[in-house]
Amino acid sequence: MIILGLESSCDDTAAALLAERKILSSIVASQEKTHHPYGGVVPELASREHTENICFVVEQTLCEAGIDFPEIDAIAVTQGPGLMGALLVGLCYAKGLAFSLDIPLVGVNHLQGHMASIFFDHPQAEYPALSLVVSGGHTSLFYMRSDSEFEEIARTLDDAAGEALDKMAKLLGLGYPGGPVLDRLSGEGNPEVIRFSLPKISSGELAFSFSGLKSAAARVFWEAGWKPLSSESGSDVRTIPEEILDFIASYQKAVVDQILDRLQKALEGRDVASIHISGGVSCNSELRYRSQDLFQNLGVPVYFPNTSLTTDNAAMIALAGARRIENNQKDSWDLKANPNLPFYR
Ligand code: KG4
Ligand code: ZN
Repeated sequence: MIILGLESSCDDTAAALLAERKILSSIVASQEKTHHPYGGVVPELASREHTENICFVVEQTLCEAGIDFPEIDAIAVTQGPGLMGALLVGLCYAKGLAFSLDIPLVGVNHLQGHMASIFFDHPQAEYPALSLVVSGGHTSLFYMRSDSEFEEIARTLDDAAGEALDKMAKLLGLGYPGGPVLDRLSGEGNPEVIRFSLPKISSGELAFSFSGLKSAAARVFWEAGWKPLSSESGSDVRTIPEEILDFIASYQKAVVDQILDRLQKALEGRDVASIHISGGVSCNSELRYRSQDLFQNLGVPVYFPNTSLTTDNAAMIALAGARRIENNQKDSWDLKANPNLPFYR
């Protein structure tokens, strides 16, 4: 079965083709350059660029796989959560194409797409599992009894982890997205110089919170009298003062500390055979090596998606959709985009 996946929930226009759960092609048209000067995604600009790119991205995907439109058996498209205008571009395109080809259409929850992304490289990942989606828009932890039975056990009370990195990069003048540049620069600083404390959450509750860290770090930055850097300095570390590199490394460490702390707490009293970490922030090198270290010692394997599949892509949407299609969960033509789509399946 050949499935076309489509993703347009935020700032990437993506299409991918899967055959029997293997990726034939996956194309992502990133809008990073458009949003970089604003330090975050501008929704109206995102929708316009999706509209301009979607036909070309799908054609490229077909061309790369050597597949023609009539060979597609089903379409999986991100239904939400995300930006309304952006979601509508992918969804309307998917409906039009599925209708004209007379093939099934399924809507996919974007978070389930990220959760599915680890299964390309680790199809045998064991259940029950803790599955953390950590990205620019989401920080949610799920307990998965199987691939179809899961519950959300923690989420962020305010900012997402990626958002905390993006906002810090904006304050530093390093542009958008912040995660990759802070990841690179953190390797050049000493993470022990500034100690940011973990947010206190009432006892028994499991939740993430990054806005306090962001405010505490901003206070350190302004009180030190530092000036924002230029966006080019991200690519030339020699132009960045050592104390700012230490500040960046300490900030990233605090983000990773919290993620690992919550995962460790979630392990307590639960039967967990493996841990899955997906979403844009799962590309982070410190998160990868520290979680491998920590959980290996506790005897729980940790799985990440291939680094090429951590940020938004349509292969993960096609894979999550494949499961629904195999279970005959076809959607009707009145499938609606939902920016706040709950995590119900
Ligand atoms: O999954 P994604 O493409 O979009 C959402 O669903 O939100 O994630 C984008 C996020 C951004 O916040 C970006 O800064 C972050 O992933 N990110 C990283 C890295 N690469 C991307 N964060 C930390 N380290 C990275 N290497
Ligand atoms: Zn995402």
